[in-house]
Amino acid sequence: MLDNFIDNLLKQMTLDEKIGQLQQVTGDFFGSSGGAITGPIDDQAKKYIKDNVYNIGSVLGISGKKEIIDIQKNFLQHSRLKIPLLFMADIIHGYKTIFPIPLGLAASWDPKLIKDVAQASADEAAAEGISVTFSPMADLVRDPRWGRVMESTGEDPFLNSIYAKAFVEGYQGKDRIDNNHLAATVKHFAGYGAVEAGREYNTVDMSEWRFRSEYLPSYKAAVEAKAQLVMTSFNTLFGIPVTGNRYILQDILRKELSFDGVIISDWNSIGELIDHGVAENMGQAASLALKAGVDIDMMSFSYISQLENLIDSKKINIDLIDHAVYRILSLKKKLGLFDDPFRGLETKKVNSHVFTDEKLALAQKAAEESIVLLKNDDKTLPLNIDDSVALVGDIGDSHDLLGSWSFKGDKLSVKTIKESLYSKFKKIVFAKGYKTASDFSSKMAEEAVAIAKKQKYIIFVAGLESEQSGEASSLTDIKIADNQIRLLKKLAELGKPIITLLVTGRPLDLTEIQKYSNAILLAWFPGTKGADALAKIITGETNPSGKITMTFPRNVGQTPIYYNHFNTGRPLLDKNADEKYLSKYLDSPNDPLYPFGFGLSYSNFKIGQLTVDSKEIKENSSILASIIVHNPSKLDGDATVQWYIRDLSAEVVRPVKELKFFEKKLVKAGSSSKFIFRIDLSDLSYVHSNKKMYPDKGKFILAAGFSSSDDDLSCVEFIYK
Ligand code: BGC
Repeated sequence: MLDNFIDNLLKQMTLDEKIGQLQQVTGDFFGSSGGAITGPIDDQAKKYIKDNVYNIGSVLGISGKKEIIDIQKNFLQHSRLKIPLLFMADIIHGYKTIFPIPLGLAASWDPKLIKDVAQASADEAAAEGISVTFSPMADLVRDPRWGRVMESTGEDPFLNSIYAKAFVEGYQGKDRIDNNHLAATVKHFAGYGAVEAGREYNTVDMSEWRFRSEYLPSYKAAVEAKAQLVMTSFNTLFGIPVTGNRYILQDILRKELSFDGVIISDWNSIGELIDHGVAENMGQAASLALKAGVDIDMMSFSYISQLENLIDSKKINIDLIDHAVYRILSLKKKLGLFDDPFRGLETKKVNSHVFTDEKLALAQKAAEESIVLLKNDDKTLPLNIDDSVALVGDIGDSHDLLGSWSFKGDKLSVKTIKESLYSKFKKIVFAKGYKTASDFSSKMAEEAVAIAKKQKYIIFVAGLESEQSGEASSLTDIKIADNQIRLLKKLAELGKPIITLLVTGRPLDLTEIQKYSNAILLAWFPGTKGADALAKIITGETNPSGKITMTFPRNVGQTPIYYNHFNTGRPLLDKNADEKYLSKYLDSPNDPLYPFGFGLSYSNFKIGQLTVDSKEIKENSSILASIIVHNPSKLDGDATVQWYIRDLSAEVVRPVKELKFFEKKLVKAGSSSKFIFRIDLSDLSYVHSNKKMYPDKGKFILAAGFSSSDDDLSCVEFIYK
């Protein structure tokens, strides 16, 4: 091994001390009561930890400067070799200052923003004693029934890769991870986003070719950006649960991707190897996981309870343990824990890092960039602050705007949409209209209709509570609650313009909402400053620029639905074709309600014709493509041009289009701007049946525009000769 310091330390360690490093536990084992518990805890486990508590390597789910200092101090006093504890937590979209959920952040199409958000989250969390975050979640998602789509950046391998890199760079900082940064954990390796039928913790099964083409790239990007940890996923892939899958963890992750950081299991995912039916008991489960390459056991207690026996009975080799310990100690060293086990905490002023004006301003900017204008008929929005407005909907009066995975976010200090709109509009009234999670109430609906009758505009707030998206929140239907839709229909009878605001962590079936609303703003769970961001967009102080990164289906039956699908042998090319034997439904169109990449602006940008400097590309050459965007409006606006390529004939089937590049920039009112994409051969490469990536000669289509929908794209054909 390479590092003398760690080598020496390792030589002094007893087997118990080594095994302790491989075990991660929650804070309650150290007397903490405020930790985040995100999975089951086996009471049995406590007895294994009792005698070994001062050998433990890492703790999850607790934070807070004082508590972390106290626990670390006490730990170091008792631990023989004084190897500091490592504190990890789920810092997913902020620590105390909560940013929009990742699926919302992704709608910004702004990797620099994501990097800033990750950096700010790291700065806050580090000031409260955290050293490792279990983020980014780089899982590609296509099924809104799965609650965890909110933690993802969407359905596109290219975009997810760019975002995964941005998250890692933001969390970890530049060359070394200093005391204001965190080590990042890319998760859930691998393929967790493809759980069958969107049911949480369910099976994943796909060809290796598909895995490599679509699912692997974003994890790879995070590893290449030097994420220090990888978390294994709960699911099975290629027939074997990933936590015990040597091919995925050793051959792909360690060898192909050259990952030499720490591999951590997900919560109890080693123990679950028994439930999956690939291990008979904890001993076998521990052996499978360690041999597959899992260094840290999060909360199954299989390592601490089994590894000694496995060594004694020669079922595993001590080298495996030594290598895992080496990697964990290296991470601790990289984080500076051996120089200062508190990572500067003792002298840091929490107030100058946490919930600062600067961070709140970033949260507001992030929310403004995340919000998506899905519909705006007859320029209903923006509203004038003198307009009279009826604000209707329980969610409009709710502090529940942070979304799942925001343990330290203080809900009650979050402004409600009502509070923010009341500070903007002079003539505004509010009615609950419905109560979330209750049946339709005619009385509440009538009250709402009565106040709405007297105002010029109706702002209707619909959507979900935060508990309805996130881990363990799968749904079989993605419809908006019946009480909300019934109320909306009643409001629509008034014939006044209705602006619907949607609070959600996942794509929903908006068919009814679309029918009865003149304008729709998708707010996601927008975070601490979300309500103010919405108010600024509603009044036109901010021009919306968000674009969805996950397709919104028309109905749950269309799922999984995604823009980069294959063509099939019988594609439905003309939406209105009445030919029976085509790939289509009898009871629904094929196309979604809102396609990937879609989102409007108040600027109503116009896009010109796509031009290329050549229609041929050769070895070592490139094509320069450009397109002009014009802003005919009186408002400056951010335009995002998306560039897609289709390979018309290849060795394996290829998606009907794939995002290859995008650019978001300001186009001033009344002016035009040129958007450019230089295509080279790497943009034409794909995974062949032999698992190798390279381009093939032949014809391609290049398309550019404001969304992935054919109706929004301008195209040219080119050839690779
Ligand atoms: C989740 C992980 C999370 C872990 C620790 C698990 O249930 O799947 O994403 O990092 O808990 O909280």
